[in-house]
Amino acid sequence: METVLSGIRSTGHLHLGNYFGALKNYIKMQDEYNCFFFIADLHSLTTHPHPDDFHSGVKTILTEYLASGLDPHKSAIFVQSDVPEIVELYVLLNMIAYKGELERTASFKEKIRKHPENVNAGLLTYPVLMAADILIHRANKVPVGKDQEQHLEIARLLARRFNNMYNAEVFPEPQAFNFGKDLVKVPGLDGSGKMGKSEGNGIYLFDDEKSIHKKVMKAVTDAGPTEPDSKMPEAVENLFTLLKIVSEPEVVQHFTAAYNNCSIRYGDLKKQLAADICRHTLPIKAKIEEIGRDDAFLRSVIKEGTEKARASASATLTEVKRAVGFRSF
Ligand code: TYM
Repeated sequence: METVLSGIRSTGHLHLGNYFGALKNYIKMQDEYNCFFFIADLHSLTTHPHPDDFHSGVKTILTEYLASGLDPHKSAIFVQSDVPEIVELYVLLNMIAYKGELERTASFKEKIRKHPENVNAGLLTYPVLMAADILIHRANKVPVGKDQEQHLEIARLLARRFNNMYNAEVFPEPQAFNFGKDLVKVPGLDGSGKMGKSEGNGIYLFDDEKSIHKKVMKAVTDAGPTEPDSKMPEAVENLFTLLKIVSEPEVVQHFTAAYNNCSIRYGDLKKQLAADICRHTLPIKAKIEEIGRDDAFLRSVIKEGTEKARASASATLTEVKRAVGFRSF
């Protein structure tokens, strides 16, 4: 049986990008694969969260993921730092990851541009830790959004390099996965770019109905088309992209036709979009509140998940260390 693994950093709240970009695919895979899901708390340290907020960040993400449909009976659910084998593999992979190739990663370049005051080594080797997360369970498929595509390429590169260097078939090459043909990029509401936790342009699964409506009504548009069948500006195209993700095909067809014959009223489109987003998210929000109160349940989920994850991780690490040449006295 093939193995599937996915993860998320433990910062902020889950937004539509996380849900429709990665999580929904993962949830659908839980019946057919050997499934691992984890919360990347070590990755989140690259941005130095305050110690008082660190654990609550993990709890928030765990709660929101369970509320979204992650099933602890079908998936091993764990926290990255509870599986020290990952860190050990990270050290070993760092020895075969080269500075130049890590510096060329788009996400690293973006981080340097946005936060020149905090270009730490953890940021540079972020994709190596991510490769360790994936390779420690010898995952074959990794449901992620478009923004993680390059990181998956690095994971494949390191898997191949390790196997070649040590002449051992330890790792399969993990593939980024989406049930559709392409990986998804969920746009933000600010007219350009992707929805992100730190961009302030997101709709969260945690948001109530009123704030979802408010955010959508405030989304950037333009004055409307004046020529039939004209090209959409990016901000409007983004609203249509969101509509395609959350609404029925007839709804998308209706507003596309209205755009093309210049009769569109963005207010109507936004109202429909907000209502359709709420249809997906409000039931999840209700569950977030319920699960968040059940510490005993959260504890048992993590206990069981950590046991499964460590068993799988230590089996891989034993093979890895053997291939590298470690022997006990
Ligand atoms: P993170 O925490 O930024 O996001 C978690 C998942 O959500 C997806 N995503 C999106 N997809 C589409 N459109 C968007 N606007 C959008 N925003 C976020 C991400 O692609 C991701 O799948 N490095 C990872 C966490 C990680 C990981 C891993 C993932 C660490 N190790 C191993 C998979 C396997 C990250 O920062 O994702």
